Amino acid sequence: MNKRAAITAVGSYTPEYVLTNEEMETLVDTSSEWIVTRSGISERRILKDKTKGSSFMASKAAENVLEKRGISPKEIDLVIVATVTPDYPYPATANIVSDAIGAVNAWSFDLQAACSSFIYALQTASKFIESGAHKKVLVIGSDKMSSIIDYTDRRTSILFGDGAGAVLLEESTDENGIIDARMYVDGSGQKHLYQPAGGSVNPASFDTVLNKQHFISMDGQAVFKVAVTKMADVAEEMMKRNNLTADDIAFLVPHQANKRIIEAAAERMGVGMEKVMLNIHKYGNTTSATLPLCLAEWEPQLKKGDNLILTTFGAGFTWGGMYVKWSISRSLESLVFSLESIVIQFNF
Ligand code: UT7
Repeated sequence: MNKRAAITAVGSYTPEYVLTNEEMETLVDTSSEWIVTRSGISERRILKDKTKGSSFMASKAAENVLEKRGISPKEIDLVIVATVTPDYPYPATANIVSDAIGAVNAWSFDLQAACSSFIYALQTASKFIESGAHKKVLVIGSDKMSSIIDYTDRRTSILFGDGAGAVLLEESTDENGIIDARMYVDGSGQKHLYQPAGGSVNPASFDTVLNKQHFISMDGQAVFKVAVTKMADVAEEMMKRNNLTADDIAFLVPHQANKRIIEAAAERMGVGMEKVMLNIHKYGNTTSATLPLCLAEWEPQLKKGDNLILTTFGAGFTWGGMYVKWSISRSLESLVFSLESIVIQFNF
């Protein structure tokens, strides 16, 4: 029988600078009320340092994971970085991260599936653990979206932010871990969300820069329509395939692209919003980082054995779902945190 892969540590990094809706109002013709109502976003983080790229945030998130797990970077066998904003077209950002964190015994590569990059990477990484090929795999989602945003385009600039999250995958020692997953793609959706230049069809030129073709190009409504269906479809598929009812689910972990898309997925699953990891108001859409940022933020509330459904949708179109039984035991620190929350809630 195959081994089972389990998430054994989570970490994150978000830049300090907070770009609020109020500041967005000074950049483009928009209003905070419009942004909150249509997307659920109030602010996003921006990596202001122009000398730093996605590898910087990825390395910070990875170091956070290593510290929490208490292991040396030399123990890592493989580093996968999920990103649409690599430091350079080549070498891979994962190579730069491996060097930065001292993962000298690992091999590494980038994986790109737009907003589904992290879940695709997690699924890929799990196979190296299940087959027994590797013992410790780092999966990092990191995007400096501010590097491909046109801050004069109100349709896209309000949505995205910068950030990174990371997880460590190891062999499960019990029945918990990654139980099931299903990835999808429909390449005919490519025209609705893409970066027109910088690749082999439209290499960088004076004209591509002048025509702002190195920024995100998105038909928001077309993407919304498909995303709202597919993210819910794949989450529901994970529940049905694994005979899970809404009561069995501890948390839905959705890609944070639009609060309305997330609400639709939760409704289809019959899960109340109190069981949904939602931090889009603080970070906006961080593309490859949304899922691990959620896992890292909710970690103190999660119990070993909790059923999580991960679901995402992105350019491509790409989408995917995953059923995870949480593998990390609650630390003493998080138990104290939970106790404090109860005390505050009931005003003891
Ligand atoms: O993570 C990858 C996947 N990405 C997504 O899933 C994003 C999916 N799309 C969306 O989340 C939504 O389509 C948006 C949030 C991008 C836009 O919301 P919408 O409800 O679809 O708005 P819309 O594009 O239909 O625009 C409605 C109106 C338009 O004005 P008119 O033509 O009705 O006069 C827009 O020009 O709102 C206008 N508008 C804005 N107004 C104020 C568009 N952007 C803005 C803005 N501020 N920032």
